[in-house]
Amino acid sequence: MSESLFDHIVRARAAINTQSRLRPRVGMILGSGLAALADELTESTTIPYDEIPGFPQATVPGHRGELGLGLLSGTPVLVMRGRFHFYEGHSMQSVVFPVQVMQALGCTTLIVTNAAGGLRDDWAVGDLMQITDHIFMPGLAGHHPLRGPNDERVGTRFPAVQGAYDADLAASAHHIAAAHGTTLHAGVYAMVSGPSFESSAELRMLRMLGADAVGMSTAPEVIAARHAGMRVLGISLITNVAVPDGMPANHAEVLEAGEAARPRFGALLHAIAAEL
Ligand code: HPA
Repeated sequence: MSESLFDHIVRARAAINTQSRLRPRVGMILGSGLAALADELTESTTIPYDEIPGFPQATVPGHRGELGLGLLSGTPVLVMRGRFHFYEGHSMQSVVFPVQVMQALGCTTLIVTNAAGGLRDDWAVGDLMQITDHIFMPGLAGHHPLRGPNDERVGTRFPAVQGAYDADLAASAHHIAAAHGTTLHAGVYAMVSGPSFESSAELRMLRMLGADAVGMSTAPEVIAARHAGMRVLGISLITNVAVPDGMPANHAEVLEAGEAARPRFGALLHAIAAEL
């Protein structure tokens, strides 16, 4: 008999549990340029993705492929240092597999970060945006991580996505950002497939649809987290201003903005983790 998704999750969990006795409560996905936050874990164990059965391998420069387990400001966390993107050729199912493993390891909260293009003229590079909702373009077009047979041991067939971004976690993030003097906008994240950046007409369309930022990740992982019953906090770093008549985006500026924001973004994530 072929193995179920649940069997794969259990096998990955076992591989992680043999390398670390930490029982993480919070899973974190660190986007472009932010992965170095994993260096700030204490009592940490690092597990390369290739030692975890079922984990695909990361392929993009700036995205290292390893899990960090440890304490972030005292809270037991599991950090994905480098995520999987659909544009790399991974299936949507592979993209979300690590989130399902996080839940199986005991994580009840997912904190997901990403780099995104800002669609608002009044937002600057380096600003942060708490994700209030998303538009999952590939998912709407049929590239959905939960397409196919559903395993009830992992989650329900028809999960709700309204309210996916937890209001209490968001309020706490805004409170902490204000105390740190860090700008934290709130807005809608549109996920596109990539890897090409958007055309001017596409940027105009996304703005018309009500998106405030655009990126190539996050929505699938958030859906898998909700499917598995986890609470979600999402934060985008605006790495470029993606307006129809502006300069075209490029990967170097995305990484550079990630690096520049790291101390500020890192401090915010430490403070958020401390409260969980
Ligand atoms: N578009 C899509 N993805 C991105 C962008 C962008 O402008 N910036 C960072 N990730």
